[in-house]
Amino acid sequence: MNSKNKKIVLTGDRPTGRLHLGHYIGSLKRRVELQNSGEFDEINILIADDQALTDNYDNPEKIRKNIINIVLDYLSVGINPEKVNICIQSCLPALHSLTFYYMNLVTTARLSRNPTVKAEIQMRGFANEGLPAGFFAYPVSQAADITAFNANIIPVGEDQLPMIEQTREIVEKFNKIYGETLVMPVAVIPKNESQRRLPGVDGKAKMSKSLGNCIYLSDDYETVKNQVNGKMFTDPMHLKISDPGHTENNIVFAYLDAFCTDEYFAEYLPEYSNLEEMKEHYRRGGLGDGVCKKFLIKILEEILSPIRAERKKWESDINTIYDILAHGNSKARKITDETLEKVKNAMQINYFNNLY
Ligand code: TRP
Repeated sequence: MNSKNKKIVLTGDRPTGRLHLGHYIGSLKRRVELQNSGEFDEINILIADDQALTDNYDNPEKIRKNIINIVLDYLSVGINPEKVNICIQSCLPALHSLTFYYMNLVTTARLSRNPTVKAEIQMRGFANEGLPAGFFAYPVSQAADITAFNANIIPVGEDQLPMIEQTREIVEKFNKIYGETLVMPVAVIPKNESQRRLPGVDGKAKMSKSLGNCIYLSDDYETVKNQVNGKMFTDPMHLKISDPGHTENNIVFAYLDAFCTDEYFAEYLPEYSNLEEMKEHYRRGGLGDGVCKKFLIKILEEILSPIRAERKKWESDINTIYDILAHGNSKARKITDETLEKVKNAMQINYFNNLY
């Protein structure tokens, strides 16, 4: 079987902070499911430190420290390094070479149209301060990541769709000019809308460290409880328990939509058998916000406490984490170097192969 018929998964994260519930429900949980499904020939997770540096070049310490944090998060949620290859972008020099060659296949006009990059440019103030060329071109480096691993299945959040689209264009152009070489990737996004877009605890569109509206996988029980009780708004019209309430635009219900399964009712709130029944009661009136929040806290605790326990174990064994990364890097290095060689052959940058 050649690499084109294999099912090869690649996902990646920028190591810019600890991972939170939004990451968990939008991607980490799914990675564990993919890992345990046994359906894939290879699963790779790339810690994209070079990409993170494109907008954190003035704060390398942050990136450095978060590499270990992010691996701790992976291992705590159940990612198994024997089944999943975890590696670091900057340790794979082939990725840089590929990026340089792919730059020729992308116009600056095309890069400027990437909606995710556009939004990030605004958010980071690059529109006024000047836009670093490295940041502008990071979608090209992401195309290098994806193609270097021969990855054809890319599970990502919606904001990453423009990157995969751009990668597909690069693959098509490369193969057309230099001959069939690169594998065409496909993006896979979560089906469940509420899991795809978990809002911050304050109702803002996304969890973000600077807004203080995250629940981190490493947060303790008290912190989680305070975030839910102190920051999550429900329905401002639902003043008395007997008032009819709204479940849409109600953050507690947005979280229940994302995390609650029927089993939690049997365990913690047996007066209902599913979320729809609970919502019905809330809309009718007679169900208090306190009960809803308490239920949510119980669910979150049931999810987070095993993650916390697992994290504690790994925290006392950081050396093993370095071993896991070293092993992941050497495996990834082999794969990515091979792709670079194929690319260079296709581009006829193989001067010494047939000189003698
Ligand atoms: N851009 C991705 C993010 O910010 C991270 C990433 C880098 C990635 N390389 C990748 C994701 C390759 C998927 C495949 O989340």
